[in-house]
Amino acid sequence: MQQAHFNAIAQTYDTDFSFSKIGRMQRKRVWRNLMPYLKDNKPKSILEINCGTGVDAYWLSKQGNQVIATDISANMIACAENKKQPELKQQPDFMVCGFDDLANQFKGKTFDVIFSNFAGLNCVDEAGLKKLNHDFVSLLKPNGQLIMVLLGKHCWMEQLYFWAKGLPDKAKRRQSVDMVELGKGHTQPTYCYSVHETAQLFSSFQLTTYKPVGIAIPPSYLEPIIKKFPFLTPIVQLAEYCLGNISFLSDYADHTFLAFRKK
Ligand SMILES: C[S@@+](CC[C@H](N)C(=O)[O-])C[C@H]1O[C@@H](n2cnc3c(N)ncnc32)[C@H](O)[C@@H]1O
Repeated sequence: MQQAHFNAIAQTYDTDFSFSKIGRMQRKRVWRNLMPYLKDNKPKSILEINCGTGVDAYWLSKQGNQVIATDISANMIACAENKKQPELKQQPDFMVCGFDDLANQFKGKTFDVIFSNFAGLNCVDEAGLKKLNHDFVSLLKPNGQLIMVLLGKHCWMEQLYFWAKGLPDKAKRRQSVDMVELGKGHTQPTYCYSVHETAQLFSSFQLTTYKPVGIAIPPSYLEPIIKKFPFLTPIVQLAEYCLGNISFLSDYADHTFLAFRKK
């Protein structure tokens, strides 16, 4: 049974991540990677899953796409709704809907793109992802795109950081089920997959692109370091620009951008 653990951090999510320096830099990289899939001047119908506070949904809508954005957390959806932008011709539609309910909720409807940003699908175990593989097939048009950003399984910077702090268990946490404390008694089980494992789980799709996101930009809990040493920002941005297209680095980054096409 999937639960809305992120309700506990919805109010602070934007301050802690979306509007942080690291959050902004990593999201910019995701948007850069997304652009080629949106660029043919034809508005796309997009189903965003685990949309959180709606930052991507508004960005996608601004470009003329029709966006339905869903999340299991009612509090996250409330934050997203609060951001309504009157100048936008077409607002995204927000809806509380967990992964388990997508097939039912959108039965008979198909989309050009399904998009999942920043590790929502890492809340799902292998059996759950195999089921979603089938659900996504029925929700996508022929040649539809499934685009996801997952946690990198072997994030080098995380490993280095926690080994240096003498915390080997934390350094290895992405290799097993990690119980992530979200506060207020909420713990989110988190599962990490390599690019190869993800491609096997989404067997009804062809993996067309994978790229590292956060190979030089650090994980968000290192924000205090980035803030303390501002000279680091242009350096990590330049390094990310140079390394961000090298696919084989994907598993070693904080996140991995993966694009699949329906077979
Ligand atoms: C780290 S946040 C990412 C939010 C957003 N995509 C972003 O880019 O900022 C992960 C999101 O996944 C959502 N989530 C977790 N499990 C879910 C599920 N079973 N169904 C739908 N959403 C889920 C959480 O509620 C949370 O909003």
